[in-house]
Amino acid sequence: MYCVREVTNDLYWVGANDHRLTLFENIHPIPRGVSYNAYLLLDEHTVLFDTVDWSACRQLLENLDHLLAGRPLDYLVINHMEPDHGASIEEILLRYPDVKVISTEKSFMLMRQFHFQVDTHELITVKEGDTYTFGSHTVTFVGAPMVHWPEAMVTFDVTNGVLFSADAFGSFIALDGKLFADEVNFDRDWIDEARRYLTNIVGKYGPHIQLLLKKAGGILDQIKYICPLHGPVWRKDLMYFIEKYDKWSRYEPEEKGIMIVYASMYGNTEAAAQALAARLCEKGCPNVAVYDVSNTHVSYLVSEAFKYSHIVLTSVTYNLGIYPVMHNFLMDLKALNLQNRTFAIIENGSWACKSGDLMQKFVDEELKNMTVLNERVSMASALGADKAAELDALADALVESVAE
Ligand code: FEO
Repeated sequence: MYCVREVTNDLYWVGANDHRLTLFENIHPIPRGVSYNAYLLLDEHTVLFDTVDWSACRQLLENLDHLLAGRPLDYLVINHMEPDHGASIEEILLRYPDVKVISTEKSFMLMRQFHFQVDTHELITVKEGDTYTFGSHTVTFVGAPMVHWPEAMVTFDVTNGVLFSADAFGSFIALDGKLFADEVNFDRDWIDEARRYLTNIVGKYGPHIQLLLKKAGGILDQIKYICPLHGPVWRKDLMYFIEKYDKWSRYEPEEKGIMIVYASMYGNTEAAAQALAARLCEKGCPNVAVYDVSNTHVSYLVSEAFKYSHIVLTSVTYNLGIYPVMHNFLMDLKALNLQNRTFAIIENGSWACKSGDLMQKFVDEELKNMTVLNERVSMASALGADKAAELDALADALVESVAE
């Protein structure tokens, strides 16, 4: 059965939802699913903007069949050819033998590298600033390299103000009937998953997102719709989401607050993290989030690290090193380029307490533009009442730093 939504005059969402995929990119859990968005423009010529993951190909084909109602598909614009969007390209070419494909040179190169059989069709290579007219709609192509792959571009329809933004402005979570961000309570129900999507998938490429935002800034008054490849379409309050993207890609915290991440083997290090959280709230700083690094998927931790201004690393020593899962979290922060945060450290070790020095060294030497507070708390096996003053001093330093 076809499943389509009208975006605006002549333009339809023809994508699909996926609740069967457990791990996006085979690494990030998506318990609320994901959508693969594709859009069909019915102008004098018919134009499909991007395709979908192979698992959703049949739904895309049914949607096209319904809306084209016997018309041929004239053009296929590929903004991003990564297989979660490009895997159905070949099938579209088989179904629509006269379709012409528009994309970047690098995109066609990558399609061939993936062995997509595209050379049987007319390929139109476009670059930054090129325009194309499909009838009453004229579009312009804008390069968006490394948002999220090097071949990516975005397409702006100057006629109706629709920006086909590829991976930019995307989100995890299946649409399930809703299409527009204003049809859901985005700030309550979606923002965490939108941040988790952006920071884990494209977080490393903040400067490239900044470049794209700068280009969008020049036509901001003309953008009426943002149509990403995952998640809802934006037609209201665009600046809400643009400002979030600006913050995330500049590695600026979204909120003044404290994330406490703990690695605890028998509950004693966890007890220290909880005692600190209680003190912070008591001292008037309730924006505190506590996570067990061992049972929280690192993609959630990364997202929270991008959200909060302060991060407390609370870890046991393990084989004279950093607890492996905590180390993995720190490695991900490095890989995703997180910057501009204030850290504090609580360390534990029963016979050789090493984790504090090692975490400090990692933050100082491996991450960029980070501060580590001096008030470290060290414990041997478990935190006793004799350490209350040290814990208070750490809490005071954090509260003061958050208030700055
Ligand atoms: Fe949703 Fe970079 O692909």
